[in-house]
Amino acid sequence: MTKTTINMKKAIHISIVIIASLAMVSCFDSNSPNYQYMNNMYEPVGYETYGEYEIFENEMEAKLPAEGSIPRGWMPYEYENSTAGLEQARAELKMTLPVTEEHLERGEELYEIYCAVCHGTKGDGQGILMQREKFLGIPSYADPGRNITEGSIYHVQMYGLNSMGSYASQTNELERWQITQHVMNLMAALKGEPALELSSDSEGEAEVAGDMTEGEAETVETEETN
Ligand code: HEC
Repeated sequence: MTKTTINMKKAIHISIVIIASLAMVSCFDSNSPNYQYMNNMYEPVGYETYGEYEIFENEMEAKLPAEGSIPRGWMPYEYENSTAGLEQARAELKMTLPVTEEHLERGEELYEIYCAVCHGTKGDGQGILMQREKFLGIPSYADPGRNITEGSIYHVQMYGLNSMGSYASQTNELERWQITQHVMNLMAALKGEPALELSSDSEGEAEVAGDMTEGEAETVETEETN
């Protein structure tokens, strides 16, 4: 064997090693999972949430809730989101929540948070957004043409009305009735009528209020910090 053939062999060996390692490095993609040995140590036996599986109708594990499902803590509301629905609620929908100091106070607090920017602290339709002309056409609760009732106050919180939005996702049933009590009192004050009479039945009160929040996921209670 001559010296040159040895060098040739060496060169071939070296280049094989270089090519092989290049090939291995270039196939490695850091974005995809590496080889898995014993893959049932990594893959769950159950279906993964939002996973894709052929066994499902649209190959998706995630499904829409069955028709007619009701989310926890949400009460079905029987009036339609339409002018007819509003008029029906205005005439028929009655408040079952007894009037108490506590509900009125909480109602006022919530009203200041959600409603006063437009309707004004007094309910005369002169909220800050109205004064700055960001919003127009906000009525006074005393507007005689409107005939606002407890039912209509609740209804517009559920669905909103034209440029007023819905508050159904920010407030629960109890809170909407607490706000309604406060609005009823604002309206009475504007009209010079007597305020809502406090209810004397405190036992029934706790029951109704409890029913309205039953089944709801626990929320952070602001009162606890007091
Ligand atoms: C972005 C401004 C805005 C906010 C915030 C707002 N409203 Fe209104 N609200 C309006 C406007 C505008 C109307 C008149 C809608 C129409 O008739 O076209 C209205 C109408 C009403 C009416 C009259 C309904 C009827 O019977 O005709 C009531 C009651 C009412 N709002 C209560 C509330 C309550 C309670 C809140 C807070 C939870 C609230 N609004 C928050 C703008 C607002």
